[in-house]
Amino acid sequence: MRGFICLTAHPDGCEKNVVDQIEYVKSKGPIAGPKKVLVIGASTGFGLASRITAAFGSEAATIGVFFEKPPAEGKTATPGWYNSAAFQKHAEAAGLYAKSINGDAFSNEVKQKTIDLIKADLGQIDLVIYSLASPVRQHPVTGVLHRSVLKPVGNAYTNKTVDFHTGIVSSITIEPCNEEDIVNTVAVMGGEDWEMWIDAMLAADVLAPNALTLAYSYIGPSLTEAVYRKGTIGRAKDHLEATSFKIADKLKSIHGNAFVSVNKALVTQASSAIPVIPLYISLLYKVMKKEGNHEGCIEQIQRLFKDRLYSNHEISVDEKGRIRIDDWEMKETVQKQVSELWPQATTESLPSIGDLKGYKYEFLSLFGFGLDGIDYSVDVDENLPITGLV
Ligand code: NAI
Repeated sequence: MRGFICLTAHPDGCEKNVVDQIEYVKSKGPIAGPKKVLVIGASTGFGLASRITAAFGSEAATIGVFFEKPPAEGKTATPGWYNSAAFQKHAEAAGLYAKSINGDAFSNEVKQKTIDLIKADLGQIDLVIYSLASPVRQHPVTGVLHRSVLKPVGNAYTNKTVDFHTGIVSSITIEPCNEEDIVNTVAVMGGEDWEMWIDAMLAADVLAPNALTLAYSYIGPSLTEAVYRKGTIGRAKDHLEATSFKIADKLKSIHGNAFVSVNKALVTQASSAIPVIPLYISLLYKVMKKEGNHEGCIEQIQRLFKDRLYSNHEISVDEKGRIRIDDWEMKETVQKQVSELWPQATTESLPSIGDLKGYKYEFLSLFGFGLDGIDYSVDVDENLPITGLV
């Protein structure tokens, strides 16, 4: 471990995570969903869950784009590499088309490569999922390297946070951002790149009639507002959400549509790096597990596809046009309990009033560690290729 990063990953553990997700989707029955799907950010978190749901829920052919490190001398690959190797293996075994592109999705080259692959193999795409989470973006037109930051806008913000490795709850003060921080964060995590993808795909005629595209957003409670929804990342999400309307307009020419889905707070590599959020998630998990409505990425996305995107009724949205699959997180009963627990959370109390154990377990399992049924004393081959990589 270095800070929030786990420096190694376990191929068999990552495969188990993928297999568990596949089994979950299969256990929920078929979805009358898309048949040709592009997932941008397909190797971990919500993007991987989207790829698995499309493939194993509605037998879709999938193309996945991601940015992962392959294994190198003395180093394991990143978990997204092993996840993708496992996805590929199981998709092939099930007779499903799957190909992947490992590279910078923000670049023109990767967009072109993806479009060429679609033209050669699939013709047109029914669903484009945009699920990138990145700290940096090199702008393809200006060449500028933008770095996103996680800071409040306006005033310094002080609240509690937890170092989930040690369990120590402490107070953290985050200084406010400057104007440039906002511009940079919007450039990385806002909607410009999503729109560039759809523009390029429309121009190349690789979007099928009635195609849908979807990006993921987050809102969360007032507790985390200063660092999330009203902070720099929130400005980027505002931009992403506004972009969905621009894209929806452009897609009218093919009777397509664009949506943002607001998802639940979950332990992923991206969310673990945001101060305050891990403490919120620890308390939220405890409450939602007790209430029996806790979900992980796969449960969220399976429900999104089956009950919202591809159900028999019109896609329901909130007053701002967003799909709300964070509905159970935002329930008044859930949020009331979390906000009552918040002032009580200390290093001593958190293990019992929060789900610190669950947080740690999920964080390690992102890298393929700590999983039942995996013998970690056995040597494994870390040099796994991803077949189907273009
Ligand atoms: P993640 O870190 O698990 O996945 C990010 C994906 O993006 C990976 O597949 C990675 O390879 C890919 N990626 C990153 N930079 C790339 C690049 N330059 N080129 C190609 N691929 C690249 O993240 P997570 O948490 O699944 O986030 C996905 C989206 O969901 C984000 O928009 C995030 O804001 C949103 N979201 C996350 C929530 C959470 O609690 N984790 C809650 C609600 C929304």
